[in-house]
Amino acid sequence: MTGARRAALVTGGSRGIGRAIACRLAEEGFDLTLSARGTDALGEAAEECAKHGVRVETVAADMAAEDDVRRVADAHHAAYGRLDMLVLSAGVGSAASLGAYPSHRFDKQFAVNIRAPFLLIDACMDLLRQTAPARIVAISSITGQAPEPGLAAYGASKAALTALCEAVNTEASADGVAATAICPGYVDTDMSAWNHGRVPPTEMIASGDIAELVVALTRLSPRAVVPWVPVVRSGAELWRA
Ligand SMILES: NC(=O)c1ccc[n+]([C@@H]2O[C@H](COP(=O)([O-])OP(=O)(O)OC[C@H]3O[C@@H](n4cnc5c(N)ncnc54)[C@H](OP(=O)(O)O)[C@@H]3O)[C@@H](O)[C@H]2O)c1
Repeated sequence: MTGARRAALVTGGSRGIGRAIACRLAEEGFDLTLSARGTDALGEAAEECAKHGVRVETVAADMAAEDDVRRVADAHHAAYGRLDMLVLSAGVGSAASLGAYPSHRFDKQFAVNIRAPFLLIDACMDLLRQTAPARIVAISSITGQAPEPGLAAYGASKAALTALCEAVNTEASADGVAATAICPGYVDTDMSAWNHGRVPPTEMIASGDIAELVVALTRLSPRAVVPWVPVVRSGAELWRA
């Protein structure tokens, strides 16, 4: 390992949940690689994280493109030579009813929400094993466990992401690389803003709460594997987004 400090790679690190996790990890002293498509937000996130005195690299990349996914892994490896925490937060959601579901929307959600995480885990696995103990955290969704009308493709992609984390644990946790799928209901970010009419932002989970869970995972010994964690909103209906 080349770096003395722990290093994390955060996809979707420019906004929302990924940015909250990145800043919290920076506060904990992790050097960072942040990735997303939009360079302006990426730069702002990097600036915010760097205030904690850590090194922050940014890589503009589209998780729907395989070459970009591999470029992100290579850039992180070249910068730090170690990977203590891989955070998979880049994701997209698109609501539409079954009966006339546009297949290109299905393809996009599966490309970003499950194909990219699979490819990135694959590309990073050697470095994770060399760095171990190390953790992977994927931001999945409660819709992968408790489906919701209109979110069939999204929920299916997230169910696959949660299953991927379970599979990673069977292959790599004995080597000190453990994976956790965090499965939240609605979190107050840009992604959930379309639903403010039904669920006001004040009733949504805060990004900071998800970030605290990620920090908690960094404090566990490698003997403790947490395959998935549901995080639901308060109220009488427990299993709904
Ligand atoms: N918000 C919720 O209610 C909620 C609930 C459960 C789970 N989740 C999951 O949590 C994760 C983070 O969501 P969020 O709420 O933080 O969303 P967000 O605020 O919209 O942020 C999404 C992040 O992912 C990046 N991203 C999106 N598409 C990308 C692509 N094709 N390639 C690379 N980066 C991409 C975005 O940057 P660019 O657009 O610049 O690329 C941004 O950094 C997602 O996986 C989402 O499915 C969200």
